[in-house]
Amino acid sequence: MDKIVSLCRRRGFVFPSSEIYGGLGSTYDYGHYGVLLKAAIRNLWLRTMVQERDDIVALDSAVILNPRVWEASGHVAGFSDPLVDCRTCKLRFRADRLDDAQCGKKPSKRPGEHSECDLTEARQFNLMFQTQVGAMEDASSSAYLRPETAQGIFINFKNVLQLARRKPPFGIAQVGKTFRNEITPGNFLFRVREFEQMEMEFFVPPGEAEQWYRYWIDQRLEWYRDLGLRDANLRVREHSAEERSHYSSGTSDIEYLYPIGWQELEGVANRGDFDLTQHTGASGTKLEYIDPEGERYTPHVIEPAVSIERIFVALLCDAYHEEVVGERDRTVLRLHPKIAPVKAAILPLIPRDEGMATRARSLYEELRRVHVVEHDDSGQIGRRYRRQDEIGTPWAFTADEQTLEDETVTVRDRDSLEQERIPLAGVRAWLDEALERPWTPAAD
Ligand code: GAP
Repeated sequence: MDKIVSLCRRRGFVFPSSEIYGGLGSTYDYGHYGVLLKAAIRNLWLRTMVQERDDIVALDSAVILNPRVWEASGHVAGFSDPLVDCRTCKLRFRADRLDDAQCGKKPSKRPGEHSECDLTEARQFNLMFQTQVGAMEDASSSAYLRPETAQGIFINFKNVLQLARRKPPFGIAQVGKTFRNEITPGNFLFRVREFEQMEMEFFVPPGEAEQWYRYWIDQRLEWYRDLGLRDANLRVREHSAEERSHYSSGTSDIEYLYPIGWQELEGVANRGDFDLTQHTGASGTKLEYIDPEGERYTPHVIEPAVSIERIFVALLCDAYHEEVVGERDRTVLRLHPKIAPVKAAILPLIPRDEGMATRARSLYEELRRVHVVEHDDSGQIGRRYRRQDEIGTPWAFTADEQTLEDETVTVRDRDSLEQERIPLAGVRAWLDEALERPWTPAAD
């Protein structure tokens, strides 16, 4: 994980937030390549969920909702983790994760195991961030930043049913910021307090819930394989009945083998009719479906839910390689081309040569209208290739001496390091086609 964090910082993917003020624990800002990588993840998710399907529509609900939403959903009463304080070192720990924590005294042991540890009894700590709406600061103005995007979907069920003219089975997909006052954030972006969730609530006839639950587990697992994550680093783990959330009648985690061990990447839950029933009861608005024969029912819900941050870390861990090429070290991110922040680099071999510089520049102008590409004319060519390897750019097109003679350029492949020549005029079509080609991660 340290190497990933260091690469992210060095190449401007991610840096600690508020750094000039000493930072704010486990809060991060995204730089240029981080923004591009997040956008690629988000776009691919929306494309798979919404663009390529007839049965899912998009939604963008507010971050701050009527606080009654969170009472009905069970978050006010139950969205909490057990917390213990140490009276000696003043640190706070999750009571159910003491085995993974370290106390603040040296030599560092598990909380409670050092002779000076003095832990309080466990108490429940609600993870929702509270805020005030408007100028008045009293109980009536109190609200929450949403701890999941899902509830914004449930409260819009009727709108979508009527206005988008859908009938079960159909889904509503949403991507947006989510906030949780985690007791122990950490492991880089893996557990943060502000993150971007991608959730899809799929509404189905009650009798079909189990079948759709299995369907979505398979679909989502396949999506990660298509993204290039290695099979050996992916698995599905079904929750036991004791482990499941209050609303769930079945939950499976798609887990990834992060450097910190097997951890939840995405959750797929069968939420039954819990949410629509709760909001019907609390709001008085019937959230149900009436079929053409006049039969009413409350649809059951299957939910695949993930954060961009968990995918971001998994992709970087899977793609990160250090190797020696021609006696020189190279760090390379072997990202799937469709997820790489920059799709191609355009390089004049000798930047001061006007013929090469002009051709490289005009190729760049042509390609950037359709793809995220980068023009680089500073430093030796080898160093420019290395810079692109480190950010995972799959191909580099170089204009060289031969370009001036026959209007061809070289294409360098990031993974095989092979080079071929193609006509300058055919680069756009070559790149379009290459981005659609099947891709598999290289063996270690
Ligand atoms: N609507 C269901 C729900 O929110 P969850 O398991 O609490 O379920 C869903 O969260 C997903 O959100 C997780 O699988 C994970 O990908 C991501 N996630 C949860 N907490 C996170 C955190 N503190 N930092 C980054 N991602 C988080």
